[in-house]
Amino acid sequence: MKLRHPFSRALYESQENGLVRVEGPDGRAGLFHQDGRWHSGELRDADPHLLGWVGGPQLGGGAASASPRPSAASTTAAAPAPPPTPARVPALTYQELLDTDTRPVPKVLRWQGREELPVLRVPIERYTARAFHDLEVEKLWRKVWQMACREEEIPEVGDHVVYEIAEDSLLVLRTAPGEIRAFHNVCLHRGRLLRDCDGRADELRCPFHGWTWALDGSLKRIPASEDFPHVDPERFRLPEAQVGTWGGFVFVNLDPDRAPLASHLGELPRHFERWPLEHRTKEAHVAKRLPCNWKVAQEAFMEAYHVGATHPQLLPGIGDTNSQYDVWGNFSRAITANMTPSPLLSFQPSEQEMLDSLLSRSLDAEPMLRVPDGMTARQTLAMGARVSLQGAVAGANELSDAELADSFYYTLFPNFHPWGAYNRIVYRFRPYRSDPDRCIMEVIYLAPFRGPRPKPAPVHWLGDDEDWTKAPELGFLARVFNQDTFNLGRVQRGLHAARHRYVTFARTQETKIRHFHGLLERQLGL
Ligand code: FES
Ligand SMILES: [Fe+2]
Repeated sequence: MKLRHPFSRALYESQENGLVRVEGPDGRAGLFHQDGRWHSGELRDADPHLLGWVGGPQLGGGAASASPRPSAASTTAAAPAPPPTPARVPALTYQELLDTDTRPVPKVLRWQGREELPVLRVPIERYTARAFHDLEVEKLWRKVWQMACREEEIPEVGDHVVYEIAEDSLLVLRTAPGEIRAFHNVCLHRGRLLRDCDGRADELRCPFHGWTWALDGSLKRIPASEDFPHVDPERFRLPEAQVGTWGGFVFVNLDPDRAPLASHLGELPRHFERWPLEHRTKEAHVAKRLPCNWKVAQEAFMEAYHVGATHPQLLPGIGDTNSQYDVWGNFSRAITANMTPSPLLSFQPSEQEMLDSLLSRSLDAEPMLRVPDGMTARQTLAMGARVSLQGAVAGANELSDAELADSFYYTLFPNFHPWGAYNRIVYRFRPYRSDPDRCIMEVIYLAPFRGPRPKPAPVHWLGDDEDWTKAPELGFLARVFNQDTFNLGRVQRGLHAARHRYVTFARTQETKIRHFHGLLERQLGL
């Protein structure tokens, strides 16, 4: 693969030996490993994220592997000269961009939620200290509404999902055709986990000595029960958590006294009225343990500020620093326009270059999709999306360019991130057991479907040493997630090594993170 760095204009080209050759605009060149280490040559410094992008694992068949790898001999001779540098790209606000849409734009994209957010920095121990983790368990995870699974994962009576949060384990169970309940997944005899994994059961029988509960949580059978005259079945019902549903998701709350889910969601369902998530199916679900605190991971997906440094290849087609950030009650939203160039660039990309950047086209490959004469990249992308949604989404033709081209990333406190419109992404981040230095990140793709509801994708767990491209169901984004993940363990390491006491947030571009920490402080009573 061969790409020009949108900032330095250096040419990055993968070699057959796995190294990446980088040649700067001044003609100096160097060879690098894909993780950023220098190998040889006069040029000794290069962008590790672009090295990883150009030289890292490619996906079979998709856009990312559209070009054959050039031979080592051809690396520099054909490199085109960098384009001249016209004036800096003028920055349209997102609302001004909406005015150029070829379709009427829904009101939800015009809504803006502005609140005074006092948090501008937070102490580093929030990400590293076991004591802070324990406080989160006690006052957050055992008190807050959280997404446990999809309703479609447990369609039949007896179907269940094991939902783990820190050291707690819940069995989210369909107990009747129209009823879902959640029980603590622990045997009341000597404490074995009742169920080890998702599945279907007629009753809940502990594998250790065989104590058995009915699906409604009542104690049904104790082997040799005469030995337990002191056990009153009424007092040995499985303890229960609250359950609520929205958008095809099942939420749980471990605190039986919390107000119902609706009060936690607030206005969020109104935002999704036009994009009903219940009419979607789980097309992919990939989970991976990461070597960082859950908030470190989550916060990397709550802003577009990192795109310039972490995903530089996207800059010709992403309006990163022009993103719009809003907050409402327990949720926030970022909107990042695609197919519009980054205001950070010092040149104006062509419409074709904008589209190519999103499709990760190598400089020496044919375009995957051409922008027709007289059309913009944005219109081209939206037109393609309207066609692909035909038959699966009512009124697909009336969807605005914005809904089909842009990124709308919502966050419902504390850890649930459904994307708006017809982007399929949903993220969830959780602490891993009692370790503040590890977490679980999940990427779920929710897609509209035609005809009868398809079976939802099972969870695909990646090993600690497997990168996201080992989940080809994620497509092109697997390589983008690799770029994000490249930072996360190093952030956690840096936070432990830090001599300063606070992490500091941007006023606008880190609005969602500032909002999150305000809610976290309230929840924890800080
Ligand atoms: S621990 Fe469950 S039956 Fe003994
Ligand atoms: Fe990212």
